[in-house]
Order: sequence, then structure tokens, then C-alpha cells
Amino acid sequence: MLKIVGISFFLGLMYLLFVFNREDNEREYSLQLEHEQLVVCYESNTDQRRPLYATGTLSETTTDESSTTQRNHQQQRQHVQQQQLLFEGTEPMIYFVTPTYPRREQIAEITRLGQTLMHVPRLHWIVADDTSSCSATLNSHIRKFGIPYTQLASPMPEMYRGRKNAPRGVANRRAALHWIRQNGIKTGVLYFGDDDNTFDLKLFSEIRYTKKVSMFPVGLIGEYGISSPIVLNGRVEGFFDSWPAKRKWPVDMAGFAVSLEYMALSPNATMPFKAGYEEDEFLKSIGLKLEDIEPKARNCTEILVWHTQTKGSKSPTVRISIDREKLNKLNLGALFSRLESMGVNHISESEGTTAQAIVNGSVKPLTFWFS
Ligand SMILES: *[C@@H]1O[C@H](CO)[C@@H](O)[C@H](O)[C@H]1NC(C)=O
Repeated sequence: MLKIVGISFFLGLMYLLFVFNREDNEREYSLQLEHEQLVVCYESNTDQRRPLYATGTLSETTTDESSTTQRNHQQQRQHVQQQQLLFEGTEPMIYFVTPTYPRREQIAEITRLGQTLMHVPRLHWIVADDTSSCSATLNSHIRKFGIPYTQLASPMPEMYRGRKNAPRGVANRRAALHWIRQNGIKTGVLYFGDDDNTFDLKLFSEIRYTKKVSMFPVGLIGEYGISSPIVLNGRVEGFFDSWPAKRKWPVDMAGFAVSLEYMALSPNATMPFKAGYEEDEFLKSIGLKLEDIEPKARNCTEILVWHTQTKGSKSPTVRISIDREKLNKLNLGALFSRLESMGVNHISESEGTTAQAIVNGSVKPLTFWFS
């Protein structure tokens, strides 16, 4: 009797484990955004970069050539027309997906990346922020570039947040995939570009005409300092990456681009919440075959993207004891408000490093100008 109870208890336990595991798997792989949020915060589909290009600087650069003012104007007009063609052309769109999260370096990274992307015609920037509410600060820094964009709020589900090896950026990329699907976008190219990577402008012309999946080397990865497909006679035959980890597609997130036409053939395409295996599982989910891969960057001999990483450090507390009214009379009031909104530092009246001024080579209290 005891034995039977024991066995059924054991079987019950196995069943529960099985169900639990299956549910966990389904949750990880499901396409639906259960426990997930897709909030479109801000969006712009118009390219407003032309005015930025057209004003001021152009006439200055053309004065180098000895020619009449009239010719300068003509050149300027031609240049603007070329730019218009470039930005309004019919080339495939690049959907550039950037997962980001609030930290003190966020605005600095977004500024650098935005200024790279400003040079790229026919690009839609999807910035997916790991927050539950839309960041107006982030938006003000994205909007100013004039690049067509969508800002999403896509927080990592609570259940993964506590994990030691939390799958960062996954909820963001899934939200972007969801947005692409929801908008029925089936032409163009998808690329995952983190906010701290470095992109050579040539990368964009390389990936724009991706037929199915294109791949290329990523510099500064792992113990080889590079992650790249291995190319023989113009075809991808294998992979060179110092972390095999039994992955079928051992590539970095920044090392491939996918045609949206091709991706649309796999309506179940998704990315799992599985740290380290996001690329592999995503490429499996779109049914990739080795012969479908186009090597780019001159048969994978050039490095057009670098996995640079910004060293993060804690946001310091600055002790400022003079009252806000006085601080606001100095530039420091506005400056600190801005820095605090970005999370770069914090002001405290009672703790932190004491703020001092330097006047004529000597250290003075900030009250110097008010006493
Ligand atoms: C890549 O290699 C193939 C085969 O050697 C060659 O035909 C092709 O021109 C190469 N492509 C580039 C862009 O260098």
C-alpha cells in the first residue's frame, strides 16, 4: 500500500514537473506577449533630417572651391535634391532595433548612435526601452535627430528580472518583432543594433539588399576578439566564435541581418528568454539553412561593426547645501536638473562629495557669489 502511494506520489511529482517545464517553455517561446507589454510611446514616420542637412554648413563647405556665389547656390540646391532622393527613395527600409535600458550612460549612448544613424537613408529606428512607463527624457533625445522612429516601452517580465543571468534585451527585441508584425511590415531588412556598439556606415549599404539572412564579422567579441562566419569560395561553411556552447548558429546579435520578406514566411519567429541563446534560437525559429546565408563585408574579411561596451559606474551623489534659488542663479541649477533627469548624478543636501567652486585657482564654497 505504502509502495503504491509512494509510486503514485512519484508519478504525480513527475507529471507536475513535466507540466511545469512545458509551461515554462511555452512561456519562453510563445509569440504572444503574455506577461509582456508592448507600449508604443512615441512614433514618427516622417524623415525630418533634410532641413538639418540643408541649413548653414553646406554653403560654408562649398566656398572652398573658387566659384561665384550663384554657383554655390546651384550646388547647394543640387546637393539638397540628391539628399531628398536618398531619403525618399525606394530602397528597402532598414528597421534598426535598439534595446536600451535606463542607466546613467543611456543618453550619451543614444546620442552617439543617433548621430551615426542620421547618415543612413531609409532607416526606421525602433528604440525599445526596458521600462514600464515611457521615458520623456529619452524621447526628447531621440526626436531631435529627425530620424523616423518608434519608441517602445518593453519591460523585462518580473519572473526573469531576479535571475542571475537575466536575459537582457529580449523583451525589447520581442516587442520590436511584435510591432513589425502588428504593422504588417513585410518588406525591408531587420537588424539588431545595441546602443553601445560601433557601426561603420558601410554596414548599412551591405545589409540593405539582404535576400534572406546576411552575416558578417563582429569585432571585439569573446576570446578571439572576433565572431565571424567562416567563408570558403564565397559561401558560409562554418563559424568562428570562442563560445560554441552547442549553438547551431554561434553568432552575435550584431552579426546578421534578416529580410522581412523572408521572416514573414515564419509567423512563429521569436526570441526566447534564454541568456546566451537568443541569436541561435531566433535564427532556428526562422528556419535558417546554411545555404541561405549571404556573406557580407567582402566575404567576411572586413569588420563593419564592433561590440564596444561602455564601462558602467555608479551614479555619484553630490552634496550641495546652498539653496536651490541661489543654485538656479548659476548655470549649475539648470545643469544639475538635466543631469538628474538622465540619472548621471544626484544632488543631496546632507551626503555625497561636497561641491565646491574654483575661482582664480582657489577652492571656494558655492555660496561665494552670494555672500
Ligand atoms: C567572394 O568570393 C567569391 C568566390 O571566391 C568571389 O567570386 C566574389 O567576388 C567575392 N566577393 C567579394 C565581394 O569580394
